[in-house]
Amino acid sequence: MPFSFLVVNGPNLGCLGKRQPEIYGTKSLQDIPALLDKFFGPNVQDMIRLEFYQSNHEGAIIDRIEQAREEGVDGLIINAGALTHTSLALADCLAWVQIPFIEVHISNVMAREEQIRHTTLLGRYARGIIAGFGILGYALAIKGLYEYLNDSKNPLHA
Ligand code: DQA
Repeated sequence: MPFSFLVVNGPNLGCLGKRQPEIYGTKSLQDIPALLDKFFGPNVQDMIRLEFYQSNHEGAIIDRIEQAREEGVDGLIINAGALTHTSLALADCLAWVQIPFIEVHISNVMAREEQIRHTTLLGRYARGIIAGFGILGYALAIKGLYEYLNDSKNPLHA
């Protein structure tokens, strides 16, 4: 049985590729699946069932994550955009649904505005955080979460 992963993207990430390419690059969310071959070979669909969700709306994202819990989704990859730094509601959601997740940022948020972007309200609930690798970060996160869930001997395993 393949794992089922949901890749969640928050506000403004639907415009990836067009939005401030000097910060976020020229690739879009549609370019992510092609990167997975690097880590999984051509038969990634035998290992992971991937679904993508993007919304500019905080409540809609929370609804989708609650739905993922009902569906029994195995893992989340989340780039919540600016909601990372501001949304206690999203953090509360991730705290209770108990779906393992990796927080992703395209840019290296730690090299950006200290007052705002160095804070993540979500990070304390994440299995890990990947930032600064562009859209490759999503593929790294998917691989990382897959290996983590697949290895029950991992000392970090919940
Ligand atoms: C981002 C970083 C956030 O600070 C910003 O608000 C975004 C994108 C990133 O992927 O680098 O929208 O999450």
